Amino acid sequence: MTVEIHDDAEALARAAAEMVLREIRAGRKRLLLAGGTTPSHTYELVGRGAQPGDYKGVHIFFGDERAVPPDHVESNYRMVRRAWLDPARFPPERVHRIRGEIDPERAARLAEEDLRAVAGEPVGLDLALLGLGTDGHTASLFPGSEALAESLRLYVPAREGRRITGTYPLLNCVDRVVFLVSGASKAEAVRSALHDPPGTVPASLVQPRGGAATWLLDREAASLLD
Ligand code: 6PG
Repeated sequence: MTVEIHDDAEALARAAAEMVLREIRAGRKRLLLAGGTTPSHTYELVGRGAQPGDYKGVHIFFGDERAVPPDHVESNYRMVRRAWLDPARFPPERVHRIRGEIDPERAARLAEEDLRAVAGEPVGLDLALLGLGTDGHTASLFPGSEALAESLRLYVPAREGRRITGTYPLLNCVDRVVFLVSGASKAEAVRSALHDPPGTVPASLVQPRGGAATWLLDREAASLLD
């Protein structure tokens, strides 16, 4: 497991954006993006740093979505569009959003079909950016959620239908997973994910195909690590 600690949120976002661009330029084109608020600035910096041709062949998928329309303030897709896709004029046909506006069960099935159509058989993605909640959730895999036990489907409804989330089968078919975590409020969740027995928090059960996850942290988020 690799842990990188950066001085502050700005330095963290810069490092994360440089990592994403490096990975894309190395040919890792099938991306799974985190929602929430932390990664927004990283996505802005990726958009600003990309060169013509960087997006060739890149497909964007989402780790989870809220059960809201795509223009809703809580939509992860809306956040990524505003931060990166629209300013960069990213080809919309290669952005595979989860349809938060329809029945969550149907949205989960369509998201899986969409992903399988691009990511091959067996399904493989190249890079995932994931966030971490203060309770140690990632995507919408919350502690105690039924979604944690899903062993076949790649996306399922969660939070009584208020979310659609990628499952461990999805996250574990990614070659490289990078957690991007900022702020003192996440320090205990980071400590638990890295130091407590696997499964103590949901994020600690993400086992990427290509080896242990990388953790990109700022000092505050890393403040409880040994
Ligand atoms: C979401 C994310 C979720 C997020 C964490 C951290 O839909 O909100 O998928 O897993 O990454 O909750 O969120 P913040 O970055 O807003 O702290």
